[in-house]
Amino acid sequence: MSETTPPDFHHVPVLGPRSVELLDPRDGGLYVDGTVGGGGHARLILEHCPDCRLLAVDRDPRALAAAREALAPWADRVRFLQVRFDDVVDDLEVRDRGIDGALLDLGISSHQIDVDARGFTFREGAPLDMRMASQGPTAADLLNTAAPEELERIFRTYGEERRARALAREVARRRETTPFATSEHLVAAVVRVLGPRTDAQDKARIFQALRIAVNGELEALEAALPALRDALRAGGTLVVIAYHSLEDRIVKNAFREWSRTCVCPPELPVCVCRGAALGSLLTRKPERPTSDEVDANPRARSALLRAWRKAA
Ligand SMILES: C[S@@+](CC[C@H](N)C(=O)[O-])C[C@H]1O[C@@H](n2cnc3c(N)ncnc32)[C@H](O)[C@@H]1O
Repeated sequence: MSETTPPDFHHVPVLGPRSVELLDPRDGGLYVDGTVGGGGHARLILEHCPDCRLLAVDRDPRALAAAREALAPWADRVRFLQVRFDDVVDDLEVRDRGIDGALLDLGISSHQIDVDARGFTFREGAPLDMRMASQGPTAADLLNTAAPEELERIFRTYGEERRARALAREVARRRETTPFATSEHLVAAVVRVLGPRTDAQDKARIFQALRIAVNGELEALEAALPALRDALRAGGTLVVIAYHSLEDRIVKNAFREWSRTCVCPPELPVCVCRGAALGSLLTRKPERPTSDEVDANPRARSALLRAWRKAA
């Protein structure tokens, strides 16, 4: 593929109609799609509200190029920004005017998984890269230089791997003779520690753990939620689709905390703060795709959607 041709980021938006229904774009508002990817959700937002404007954000320049092409019919209502989604609040218009809603559809797109050179896959020969943007250390850098304790934390916390310590030690042992470069190097270490019954899900789990660390994904989400909440105008909505239990826990805790009317310390017998909630939950529990949607779009399988509305 040439560097100038936008790649095929064709993406079926996960929980598309429901996320737009919750976001409720209206009245010429300004909305943020913080993970525009192939533009699937963005297109639905722009179609749903013919006088709304959209800030289309992605940290991956190739995703943004694809989104630019996909959203060309609405170009006069879209502004593209290549930043991490927590940095969108530094945009001058966002600072001056505020936003009416924001959507985050977390994780990576099918394109990023499908193109071996991006290094997100465990298919043989794929470089251990995994960066969404092209700065910073790659997955190979991390495997070759991180302290074994740090690798253990990544495999245990992000990958929920019971044999995290053994895997970290195996990585440290192997890199002394052969530095990690391509996916089969990591797959070999995983199979060695987890045994011959290691399946595709095990490999996917370990690769995902590394990807989360390489891109600082949880840190970006932790930073983005309060920043976007503060940027929201009264009545504005935040919609987040998570694909990992740790991401979903961050979203759940934030939305619950902001919806509490009382913020007194739990040891106080009566409420003294007379606090008003910052807003309210639009989803009591995470919403999931139907089995029909999962059949049509397997990427939707682990999706968990939550939404929160700022007080009017
Ligand atoms: C699941 S895809 C989004 C697909 C999109 N909703 C669609 O319908 O086409 C996630 C996208 O978010 C981007 N991304 C992930 N984390 C990001 C972050 N912290 N800041 C900006 N973009 C991010 C990825 O590069 C990827 O393109």
